[in-house]
Amino acid sequence: MNSTTNTQLFFEKLKSFVDNKELVKLQLTGKRNQLSDLKKIIITAVEIKKGYCLNFVYRYNTMDITKNFDTQEGLDIIAKAMENDFYNAEMFAKNEHVSLIILPNGKAQIKTIQQTLQAQPTLTHDRVKERLIDTYNNIYLCELEITNANGEIRREMGDKFKQINKYIELLAPYLTELSVKESLHFADMGSGKGYLTFALYDYLSNNLKIKTNATGVEYREDLVNICNSIAHKAHFEGLKFIKGSIEKTELEHVDILIALHACDTATDDAIFRGIKSNAELIVCAPCCHKQISKALNVTNELSNVTKFGILKERQAEIITDIIRAMILQAFGYKTNVLEFISLDHTPKNVMIVGKKTHKLKKDKQQILNDIKAIKQLFGNPSANLSFSFSHPIKKECRLSLV
Ligand SMILES: C[S@@+](CC[C@H](N)C(=O)[O-])C[C@H]1O[C@@H](n2cnc3c(N)ncnc32)[C@H](O)[C@@H]1O
Repeated sequence: MNSTTNTQLFFEKLKSFVDNKELVKLQLTGKRNQLSDLKKIIITAVEIKKGYCLNFVYRYNTMDITKNFDTQEGLDIIAKAMENDFYNAEMFAKNEHVSLIILPNGKAQIKTIQQTLQAQPTLTHDRVKERLIDTYNNIYLCELEITNANGEIRREMGDKFKQINKYIELLAPYLTELSVKESLHFADMGSGKGYLTFALYDYLSNNLKIKTNATGVEYREDLVNICNSIAHKAHFEGLKFIKGSIEKTELEHVDILIALHACDTATDDAIFRGIKSNAELIVCAPCCHKQISKALNVTNELSNVTKFGILKERQAEIITDIIRAMILQAFGYKTNVLEFISLDHTPKNVMIVGKKTHKLKKDKQQILNDIKAIKQLFGNPSANLSFSFSHPIKKECRLSLV
């Protein structure tokens, strides 16, 4: 069989799997350009509000970007990617496993294996995640009014449930790699109603079977009381919520520190606490970024980048999160920036994950100098840098002194 026929055959099969809703997963790997940051694309079929779509996860060296396309557009993108960007495509359908390999001489090989074990197409974004957090007999989900008394997800809480599952799904690979295997302590800074605190405690204790102690730190006493009462009802003996501030609350040894949507610069305080307590894993999903936005003062050739209000806001968010990620790197954390949840649900969808490593790729001082250069580009060069981007810089200075 010649190459064009093999490639055609592969795409015909792919189209038929998609049309018959049998596609489980397709992976494009073996990048053609070694300098490209894009390592692979993972495609699954999903059923979302707007209908049956293809979900693309673009896996870069340090981040994932997720996008949904309608099926025809998705198929066109896959064909283009195989032409220009990747050598290998591996496709899993209900009963078949098909791979396409483009050889350096341009010839294409196709291999088909009939699967004995039937893979099931996922179809919804949530099927996998639903398995991670079980709704059956789940006391805290019911108390938090995510499920009703029958254990069914309440219609209006569907997005929250998706968020919880996405969060656990993203963290799962990091959690299984933790050096602490038998017992650990995690702190959730700005725990709010505790949705994610309960889910993480549940996953660590019940799925990974790690003896877990956890502390939710929260300003609001009413939320602290509600969460403690739910923890008691759920028999989560190792989980407690305390009233206090992210900045000052005393904590016992922390293995994992999380701060999800902690307001404004509270995320910086949380990162600071995490680094200072030498946490193995630091996870934050920043909320608003008011501080840097106010301090942006671009007078150089980049001034047009901050000319329009809404784009200035977004630029400020990006710069803030880049600085946060770089600070983590400077202090010995291998850092990834991920999409926490699809933009359809919330614009606050960035998650920064730092994992302590002893093999730093870059020298700490070099990274701190790089941060300074970013601030110089976007801040007021004549002002004292410590104050031009007051909060994260203050943290960085404090961190430098640790
Ligand atoms: C947007 S909510 C997020 C709650 C929770 N982490 C989640 O993702 O569902 C932020 C919470 O952090 C609390 N918070 C903000 N800044 C704080 C600080 N400096 N110290 C303690 N709690 C703080 C707020 O009271 C609020 O309950």
